[in-house]
Amino acid sequence: MTGEEASFFVLTDGVNALPLATAQDHKRVGEGDTGPNTGGMGAYSPAKIVTPSLLEDTMRRIIQPTLTAMADKGTPYRGVLYAGLMLTEDGPKLVEYNARFGDPECQVLMLRLKSDLVPALMATATGDISDLDLEWFDEDAMTVVMAAKGYPGSYSKGTEIDGLDAAVADSDTQIFHAGTRTEDGKTLAVGGRVLNVTSKGQDLNAARDKAYAALKKIDWEEGFYRRDIGWRALDEI
Ligand code: GLY
Repeated sequence: MTGEEASFFVLTDGVNALPLATAQDHKRVGEGDTGPNTGGMGAYSPAKIVTPSLLEDTMRRIIQPTLTAMADKGTPYRGVLYAGLMLTEDGPKLVEYNARFGDPECQVLMLRLKSDLVPALMATATGDISDLDLEWFDEDAMTVVMAAKGYPGSYSKGTEIDGLDAAVADSDTQIFHAGTRTEDGKTLAVGGRVLNVTSKGQDLNAARDKAYAALKKIDWEEGFYRRDIGWRALDEI
């Protein structure tokens, strides 16, 4: 399959499905989407390439038939359904399903979500979501992953990270920790993908500027990040 990839998430109670905001991630470790695959080096939302008609097409041709087939088999699926899509010239194609949120796509969705997530997840897990409606901020969001040098190969652990409080001074920025530990008041890196520096702004450029300004305040010699997150979408602006 040839095309651009997009991550598509729905909440489902087994019958009804509510699409969440759209997102795209960058799976390769290197700038220009080069080098080995990773869990994801950054993401942004919305993915403007996922137009309303493409969203409708995905729901009708991919998501709903899957949920119907699962229910018909006597194994209805409840929860978060994540479709990895390839947007081909012939329309969206399904690459894979995951029964979870995407990482780091979830981080940008959480910054854009205006509604309370907990009642939505409770209804998804235990009830009926036919009346569920989620509100989203209109702003764009971007997350940039700070990883340990060497990732996705071998990397050292236990190195100290400073500057995190200064990095979140802007109220539009949050840092989601993925691979850290606190020891004697210090923040230590203990994973490959370590921090998700996430910002929202009036457009993708503004979100990008805030996220990269925050990254500059983080003092972690052994960390690195891609400097081109969102490049495809930014080129289109
Ligand atoms: N970001 C890709 C994944 O969560 O699988």
